[in-house]
Amino acid sequence: MALMIQEVSVTNAPVELLLLADPSENKIRSYLSISRCFVASMGEVVVGACVVQPLSPNAYELMSIAVHPVHQQSGYGTALLKWVIDFYRSAGARQLEVGTGTFGYQLAFYQRQGFRVSSIDQDFFIKNYPEPIFEDGIQLFDMLRLTLRYSDKDA
Ligand SMILES: CC(C)(COP(=O)(O)OP(=O)(O)OC[C@H]1O[C@@H](n2cnc3c(N)ncnc32)[C@H](O)[C@@H]1OP(=O)(O)O)[C@@H](O)C(=O)NCCC(=O)NCCS
Repeated sequence: MALMIQEVSVTNAPVELLLLADPSENKIRSYLSISRCFVASMGEVVVGACVVQPLSPNAYELMSIAVHPVHQQSGYGTALLKWVIDFYRSAGARQLEVGTGTFGYQLAFYQRQGFRVSSIDQDFFIKNYPEPIFEDGIQLFDMLRLTLRYSDKDA
């Protein structure tokens, strides 16, 4: 069965899936209203989702991307990320940003598609979330901001 990727109304965003990428439902709901949501499905089953909000007329931020744990490491996340990158390129975007932790496979996931480190938001995860967040047993403190510039070669 082929993977289908399409935009859905933010009112139909699969919030339970997005919680894999952002543990705060309040934060997800706060940015959903000003964002666009894209989902990847296999038949009737939604396997992945991605939310993007505008920052300025030609710059966008990927707020969350997640693939259901059962379907991870099957290439769906990469397919969804590439689709979203192409969608915003076609829309005339100059850049796409994303914030992520300072360690973990997600860094390679984004940089493989041309994202590059642009800044560090010190203490982001302790300033913006009520509970400590751990990944692989390590507490997340700082957020790396990555930027994909469409003008860069091959972006
Ligand atoms: C990040 C995420 C969307 C990637 O989706 P995916 O469908 O698993 O990604 P792909 O199958 O396209 O794999 C991309 C790469 O990430 C690696 N990867 C994916 N999940 C992994 C995991 N749990 N542990 C280690 N590596 C992982 C894959 O091995 C692959 O690398 P490779 O090509 O060298 O093998 C997905 O893993 C996810 O939902 N994670 C939890 C939420 C999250 O962290 N979102 C990002 C927030 S910044």
